[in-house]
Amino acid sequence: MPNLRPVIDDLPASKIREVANAAMDRRDVLAFWFGESDEATPPFIRDAAVASLAAGETFYSHNLGLAELREAIARYVSSMHPRVGSDRIAVTSSGVSALMLAMQALVGAGDEVVAVVPVWPNLTAQPAILGAQVTRFALAPDAEGEWRLDVGALCRAVTQRTRVLLVNSPNNPTGWTLARDEQQALLEHCRATGTWIVADEVYERVFFDGDDRGAAPSFLDIADPDDRLIVVHSFSKSFLMTGWRLGWLVVPPGAAPSFAKLIEFNTSCAPVFVQRAGLAALANATDFVPGLVERLRRCRDTLLPLLRAIPGVRVATPRGGLYAFMRAPGSGDSLAFAKRLVQEAGVGIAPGAAFGVEGEGWLRWCFASRDPDRLRLGAERLAEFVRL
Ligand SMILES: Cc1ncc(COP(=O)(O)O)c(C=O)c1O
Repeated sequence: MPNLRPVIDDLPASKIREVANAAMDRRDVLAFWFGESDEATPPFIRDAAVASLAAGETFYSHNLGLAELREAIARYVSSMHPRVGSDRIAVTSSGVSALMLAMQALVGAGDEVVAVVPVWPNLTAQPAILGAQVTRFALAPDAEGEWRLDVGALCRAVTQRTRVLLVNSPNNPTGWTLARDEQQALLEHCRATGTWIVADEVYERVFFDGDDRGAAPSFLDIADPDDRLIVVHSFSKSFLMTGWRLGWLVVPPGAAPSFAKLIEFNTSCAPVFVQRAGLAALANATDFVPGLVERLRRCRDTLLPLLRAIPGVRVATPRGGLYAFMRAPGSGDSLAFAKRLVQEAGVGIAPGAAFGVEGEGWLRWCFASRDPDRLRLGAERLAEFVRL
């Protein structure tokens, strides 16, 4: 393509797509490659969108989203964390758009972003698109395959020159989740260095070790309102709404008008009928989310023992998120392994290299499925493939 910015040419093509594109139209393939369930959005959410369209709600909304939705999000967030007012909420057209807005607000050419990796590649690509320097700080797996953070080393990597610390917890792909004392240490350190924390907490509710609130530890639990903290959220994962493209940001008091301007130049606003669907989702969150998390837990607990029983497979039980992240015999070149696995055994999973060099040798399996038998059959096929 002629004369685009070099940074665009340098963006990595999705390795997950590279595996999926080769086999997406094959009906015999069991696909576990993308980060979504095969369960459709529940009818009560879909009905709200249909009713909105039937009522002719086809117009722009406020840049920050319908006031009603901002209030509902603020109530939802405040039901799990210390109170957040609706003046700190910006509705966005997806979690990924929320992340990009946070990056646009905070970083420009040459700014340093420290990102905890491996991680969903969009997190590190977005600051790179804006010209920022991304320093990767790696989690490390222990002997059982559980990924861990060296908080002290991360604090040493974040200096006064670091503009943003980017953390995704619960983490895609590893399932690693920040503990409260780790969050506290990072927050205090970032206060000292003047570094912003951008916390991607889109899997906050998809957490299997939660307390009564049913949520993973959040920076919102410990931060003061005036801390340099932006929290990124999405309707995608906890309400089965990946295709709807709806998310939100929690920003510091006084920052929302600036985000309204940024949203104007990105998407102007989220579609109103999608926002109505979001309102219906939140109105029923207490009934819906715990049931979904239980179904996901059953998926996880079906798949993990089957994977572990395959000789040579190393996989820890993820505390949160939708993924089993594992090593298998022969998975050293994860892209080649994933391509062969889909071609020869009809099982589609994501290569760990898609999440950065730190994920090389690993494989990500999304276990969110309505039908546990699909997981069982997939595991059988993997066992057979590995044995041959
Ligand atoms: C870590 C992480 N953040 C953000 C997102 C974005 O979700 P969405 O754009 O669907 O709201 C995803 C989606 O997979 C993710 O894994």
